[in-house]
Amino acid sequence: MAVVKRWQECTEEDILQANIEKYDSEHIVNFYKDFEEPRYAYIEYNVIFKAVINMLEKTVNRNLQAVDLCGGAGKAAFVMKSCSPDCRVTLVDLSEKMLDIAREKIAKNNIEGIDVVLADAFSFLESEGEYDLIVFSSAVHHFKEPLNLLQSAAARLSENGLIITIADPTTITKSRRYQFFRFLAANSQNKKEIIKQMFSGNKNSNPDADFDMAEYQTYTGINDRELARGVTNIGLSPLVHLRYPAGEPYMVKIMPYLGLCWAFSMVLGKSENRVPEKMIGELKQEIKEEMPFKFKYM
Ligand SMILES: C[S@@+](CC[C@H](N)C(=O)[O-])C[C@H]1O[C@@H](n2cnc3c(N)ncnc32)[C@H](O)[C@@H]1O
Repeated sequence: MAVVKRWQECTEEDILQANIEKYDSEHIVNFYKDFEEPRYAYIEYNVIFKAVINMLEKTVNRNLQAVDLCGGAGKAAFVMKSCSPDCRVTLVDLSEKMLDIAREKIAKNNIEGIDVVLADAFSFLESEGEYDLIVFSSAVHHFKEPLNLLQSAAARLSENGLIITIADPTTITKSRRYQFFRFLAANSQNKKEIIKQMFSGNKNSNPDADFDMAEYQTYTGINDRELARGVTNIGLSPLVHLRYPAGEPYMVKIMPYLGLCWAFSMVLGKSENRVPEKMIGELKQEIKEEMPFKFKYM
């Protein structure tokens, strides 16, 4: 019989194995394959990546070297390419099937300058490369210790390099208010899924029940304030930390007024290379002007 562990007892290796299994399953891969992202899903990516790349291009005098780490089907990689067509992006993921979706898109659209690498994040970060931009999209919640991951990523940054984390859940996702509005916005198939998750979510607090180790923090969320404080102990500074209301387009308009900016994004720079306040101000201003919905700077 499989040994059941509490989340607290799970190691980074256990979670890695859970992710390997999860992202090899037909069900999940088909979800990403069929997932015709509605236009809203890319808005914050476009806005944040464009502003960050504008800032980077002022200090890095060559084509940018970027990584989409845990990049799956390459959502962030493709947005980076559209913001900076000459940049070279390495798309890294542990799932060959997820990477195949990206490979198909690359071939279909004749996109050059995206290298696809099958590897787990920590192994990749042990390699030699140096990058101007490392992106984690919907990724840091798949690690037990996001700070360790960010520290390894920081070691791979070029002199003025930056890290972006985007589309991770905050602890607001645990609130009844959030669950209620998520349920309201869902179609009937997703409503069933949500109900199922709510019940299986309860299992996460039961040490004797099996739970989805790969997605555990999707339901508990990440304490992003604590993470923002934590990065300062590993040589990183949060230049931008924002919470925004990812979701259905009409919900995105309503959620901020209900206190439901539930997803977070951070732009992190190396503390030793103090980015001038003026540049940070301009970065924040550009994001604020371009974002078509209300969000919150932390
Ligand atoms: C929620 S999906 C996000 C995919 C993509 N970044 C996006 O935004 O659409 C999480 C991805 O992380 C990958 N992943 C999970 N743990 C990983 C690890 N330790 N190393 C590399 N990839 C990992 C999974 O295979 C999956 O493709």
